[in-house]
Amino acid sequence: MAKSFAVIGDPIDHSLSPNIHNAAFRELNLDCSYIAYRIPKGELEDGIEGLKKIKIDGFNVTIPHKVEMMKYLNKMDESCSLIGAVNTVTNNDGILKGYNTDMDGFLEPFKKKKLNIENTKVLLLGAGGAARAIVAAFAKEKAKSITIANRTLENARNLSEFAKKIGLDVNVIRIEDVKDSAKNYDIIVNATSVGLKNEPTIISLDNINEKTIVYDIVYMPINTDFIKKAKEKNAVIIFGYEMLLGQATRAFEIWHGMKAPYNAMKKALLGGF
Ligand code: ATR
Repeated sequence: MAKSFAVIGDPIDHSLSPNIHNAAFRELNLDCSYIAYRIPKGELEDGIEGLKKIKIDGFNVTIPHKVEMMKYLNKMDESCSLIGAVNTVTNNDGILKGYNTDMDGFLEPFKKKKLNIENTKVLLLGAGGAARAIVAAFAKEKAKSITIANRTLENARNLSEFAKKIGLDVNVIRIEDVKDSAKNYDIIVNATSVGLKNEPTIISLDNINEKTIVYDIVYMPINTDFIKKAKEKNAVIIFGYEMLLGQATRAFEIWHGMKAPYNAMKKALLGGF
């Protein structure tokens, strides 16, 4: 029987998820469809009722519903309860189970490129929702320490409590205090939204080297200023679109119980830029 999937959020019209998942269905000849469905803030409950009525098989959840969606789940995967936010839901006869594939999606490029995380020193820029899944990822892979640098120190402190709780050695600093210390880290991640509007990098990457792993979770534009500066230093680059693909392939595997066609999904995604 044909299966249907969706991504819910607001705004949603620029979501790349329908392209990515529909490309996977075509590649594997699956009788499935995936649409973007706008549900404004405050209308989540009604929206979910609608999705249940049409017997949706699964859906992705994005801004602004990732935390509120937790209320409407009947079951929760560990990834979801750990991070406190949901981005992937399965629907089995009205029983909704939530997952968070951002953590595994973030780690996927490290695995693909065989890059080690264990015992590394990490600099994480940002302390929002995405940063929380990333902190969980570094704890899972046993990073040696993590420094959370954020514009608002209080948000960094809140995130550091979570990091400590899950076993990380953590420091907190203001973004402007990073100064020329980027060289002290093995992995530097931009998990702020800076770059989305082509803004210049918020920290200097002048003294990193070719061993430094530089990861920008901003995926559009592909080459943010942060990425360009890292390329000038011949650093190891991980692009935001790689995390986007990582979380999408993981969601695919949860829904369909088979390996996702990574290359077809990548082609569809990069064609969308
Ligand atoms: P997401 O869910 O995508 O992580 P978010 O929760 O809104 O989004 O978090 C955005 C992050 O980008 C925060 O760390 C935010 O810093 P504050 O905690 O100080 O708000 C950071 N951010 C956004 N705009 C920024 C800017 N112009 N300079 C520095 N940091 C910025």
